[in-house]
Amino acid sequence: MNKFYTLVILLYLITATVSQIKNDDLNSNPCTSKETCSDCITANPQCGWCMKRGNFSYHRCDFVHRLSDQGCFDQIFYPTPSFTPLLNEDLSNKTSEDSDPIQLRPQRVHLKIRPNLPYSVHVQFKQALDYPVDLYYLMDLSKSMEDDKEKLAQLGNQLAVNMRTITSNFRLGFGSFVDKVVMPYVSTVREKLDEPCTGCAAPYGFRNHMKLDTDANDFVRKVADTQISGNLDAPEGGFDAIMQAIVCKNEIGWREKSRKMLVFSTDSGFHYAGDGKLGGIVKPNDGDCHLDRSGLYTESTTQDYPSISQINHKVKEHHVNVIFAVTSNQYDIYRQLAEGQSPLIEGSTAGKLENDSSNIVTLIQDEYLKITSAVELKDNATDNVKITYYSSCLSQKKEETKICRGLRVGNSVTFEAKIEVTSCPRNRNEWNQTILIYPVGLNDALIIDLEMICECDCEKPWNEQPYSPYCERRGTYECGICSCNDNFYGRRCECDAKEANPAEEEQSCIHGNDTKCDAKEANPAEEEQSCIHGNDTKVCSGRGVCRCGECECYKREAPEEVTGKYCECDNFSCDRNDGKVCSGPDHGKCECGTCLCNDEWTKADCSCKKSNEDCVDPRTNKECNNRGNCKCGQCQCEAKGDEQYTGQYCEDCPTCKSQCEIYKECVQCRIHQSGPLSEDADACNQCTINPIGTSEFEVTEGEQLCVFIDDDDCKFQFKYKYDETEDIILVIAQNTKDCPEPVDVLAIVIGVIVGIVLIGLALLLIWKLLTTIHDRREFAKFEKERMMAKWDTVCTGALAPLQTL
Ligand SMILES: *[C@@H]1O[C@H](CO)[C@@H](O)[C@H](O)[C@H]1NC(C)=O
Ligand SMILES: *[C@@H]1O[C@H](CO)[C@@H](O)[C@H](O)[C@H]1NC(C)=O
Ligand SMILES: *[C@@H]1O[C@H](CO)[C@@H](O)[C@H](O)[C@H]1NC(C)=O
Ligand SMILES: *[C@@H]1O[C@H](CO)[C@@H](O)[C@H](O)[C@H]1NC(C)=O
Ligand SMILES: *[C@@H]1O[C@H](CO)[C@@H](O)[C@H](O)[C@H]1NC(C)=O
Ligand SMILES: *[C@@H]1O[C@H](CO)[C@@H](O)[C@H](O)[C@H]1NC(C)=O
Ligand SMILES: *[C@@H]1O[C@H](CO)[C@@H](O)[C@H](O)[C@H]1NC(C)=O
Ligand SMILES: *[C@@H]1O[C@H](CO)[C@@H](O)[C@H](O)[C@H]1NC(C)=O
Repeated sequence: MNKFYTLVILLYLITATVSQIKNDDLNSNPCTSKETCSDCITANPQCGWCMKRGNFSYHRCDFVHRLSDQGCFDQIFYPTPSFTPLLNEDLSNKTSEDSDPIQLRPQRVHLKIRPNLPYSVHVQFKQALDYPVDLYYLMDLSKSMEDDKEKLAQLGNQLAVNMRTITSNFRLGFGSFVDKVVMPYVSTVREKLDEPCTGCAAPYGFRNHMKLDTDANDFVRKVADTQISGNLDAPEGGFDAIMQAIVCKNEIGWREKSRKMLVFSTDSGFHYAGDGKLGGIVKPNDGDCHLDRSGLYTESTTQDYPSISQINHKVKEHHVNVIFAVTSNQYDIYRQLAEGQSPLIEGSTAGKLENDSSNIVTLIQDEYLKITSAVELKDNATDNVKITYYSSCLSQKKEETKICRGLRVGNSVTFEAKIEVTSCPRNRNEWNQTILIYPVGLNDALIIDLEMICECDCEKPWNEQPYSPYCERRGTYECGICSCNDNFYGRRCECDAKEANPAEEEQSCIHGNDTKCDAKEANPAEEEQSCIHGNDTKVCSGRGVCRCGECECYKREAPEEVTGKYCECDNFSCDRNDGKVCSGPDHGKCECGTCLCNDEWTKADCSCKKSNEDCVDPRTNKECNNRGNCKCGQCQCEAKGDEQYTGQYCEDCPTCKSQCEIYKECVQCRIHQSGPLSEDADACNQCTINPIGTSEFEVTEGEQLCVFIDDDDCKFQFKYKYDETEDIILVIAQNTKDCPEPVDVLAIVIGVIVGIVLIGLALLLIWKLLTTIHDRREFAKFEKERMMAKWDTVCTGALAPLQTL
């Protein structure tokens, strides 16, 4: 068990530390502002305190990993939770004679936790078989309940028998109540006092007739023997009776370890605190037991009725379950006492009683099962401690709940009680507390001896070193720091308040208060700064401690450094370029918010190179090829219309007209005497280039080839190159143009005509052929018919050839 918890704690610490490393940010660091060890460890569960003796120039309160990075290894106070089970006995399966049944485990634990760091304790609950049950039957014996009483006498034995099927360890008791024997509750006319109704007994407040016992026959006898009484007003004095029945432990015979059930049976309402005034009773109920030998409540007429919360308090203290068995007309009133999220009377239930009590046995049985099938955990933690319960009950899903229902004997449920100290109580006596976690209505409990870690061990009185030499014998040394006696202050109490006023000295550690502008004392430029921006209100700009009027700046992790009279300067908050302070150490260094650039560099972030040497094109030896300006060692190329030069030296121009286009017209007019310039001799002479004609045209490396088609559809080509020796563009053109062979038009025309004629002839021939064939066929047909006609005129007469037509 113990090992398991240690493992859980370790895992928690590791994850907490890892997640902290990820997102730690000085601005959101909850630790660094804490000046004492106890403030530190109560501020945040991740803060630790460095107890190292001597000069520790960082924050003493910080995340643990940062402290150890800063050289504080084994001197860190970082308390971890400790959990020790003190009593952890097995749950009982069955109630036995010789030992008390145990239904909750563990029974007692010691828990030491620091604020805001929750710790989960697992609590297991199991109902033991044959758990003792004490049932006390409290009955309203006003006249209207006469039939109920008779019924109860009949059913008493059956009640005992039925309950014994649930538990073999069952006891039964009986008491009755009427009301306070004063006006206006009861008629105080002499005859009425003796016999309020015919055949009635004298009225009384509460009487215990039968102590809890196993003898059911005795119960039946006692109920039968008890006489009905009577009173005046409708509400009865039942609360007096409940109070006595609960608190008179010995008289009623409640056992220490048992399920205590108080059945309250009535058909009317109840009087409660304050009602006693009607009868002239002003003394409040004291919640004590006042029964005389005969079991009669003696303070009935001197003490007021108890309040509902008084009853609730006693119910909780004595773990009694009240069952209100009331008639249907009263049911709603009593249900309100018993139901709801936090019922007015803890652990109580209400059931509907028939007006002759005939269902009393099943009612009690049902309500008993209702009570015992649920377990609800409660605790008496104070405001400083928050306990949240989680359980999966009998299902698989864990959720926040303090109550599990539907349990049977033998079922075991586990609750996880998450205990968190939300803040340290002011009173240090409350740093150790005993907290009870208990199932409602049962005597079992888990006792938690809670120890809150609200101060550091090094702050304990016996660890303090008063008048320590380290503190110049002017203060108490504890947890690595001096807490100075009156009149002294400073890290080692070296400052004396008699010599100076500490408040004033602290003021002199505030940047904003320094308005003296004395050039002799310091660098005038710096002083001027402090006069201009002098509205910082934090001591040592919040980045150091004030010691005897002078700031001692906190050290920072390299390469950062805080300096300045008020720690107002640092060498990391200068302009950055590419994430590097002052463009990196080879460009410049940061001093008090401004970059001091090395010789070659300039601009606020030292990103600008002074020299122009990187702008000169080594090929042309010109700065940016005269097409741009050199800024911070880089060419800024100009744009002229469509021409946008780029490249390190502005040597490229992807958007420019190509050089071929530029030279084309000159080549045309000078070499081939064609093109737009050839018409105007002046324009041709003004060409910026002088192309050289050649018949041997070949392109070699370093030369650019240009090819165009001239107006006469001939191809002409030329090449150009940059001549380094003379610094000119050399254009060399081919003397001749490549013209395509001319086409023989006549041949084509004749060919076409001949072709057309031939096709025409062919068509004519085909036509002639087709008509000839057709004619021949027609003629053959005609010949045939003529022959037939001849034949007809010979044999059958002149009409026959007509018919065939
Ligand atoms: C601690 O700081 C004081 C004042 O800055 C200095 O005089 C002393 O030498 C330091 N002690 C150590 C051990 O560094
Ligand atoms: C209860 O019963 C379980 C299993 O039936 C057994 O392991 C356990 O030891 C028993 N506990 C006691 C206290 O007898
Ligand atoms: C019980 O009460 C109901 C209504 O409250 C009534 O109708 C019925 O007669 C009563 N029964 C007895 C036996 O008094
Ligand atoms: C709390 O209890 C522990 C031991 O359990 C004890 O050492 C400590 O002094 C107690 N603290 C207070 C404030 O009483
Ligand atoms: C809780 O109840 C227990 C037992 O009655 C008591 O000793 C303890 O002081 C209570 N705790 C608080 C915080 O009231
Ligand atoms: C210093 O400045 C604070 C706030 O600006 C002001 O309240 C205080 O009086 C000043 N102290 C001195 C000594 O000037
Ligand atoms: C300091 O004062 C000036 C002018 O009074 C103001 O503009 C500036 O924001 C202040 N700075 C701070 C840090 O308060
Ligand atoms: C800041 O100063 C410290 C100490 O002089 C030095 O080590 C560090 O490199 C400096 N950091 C920067 C960014 O200049």
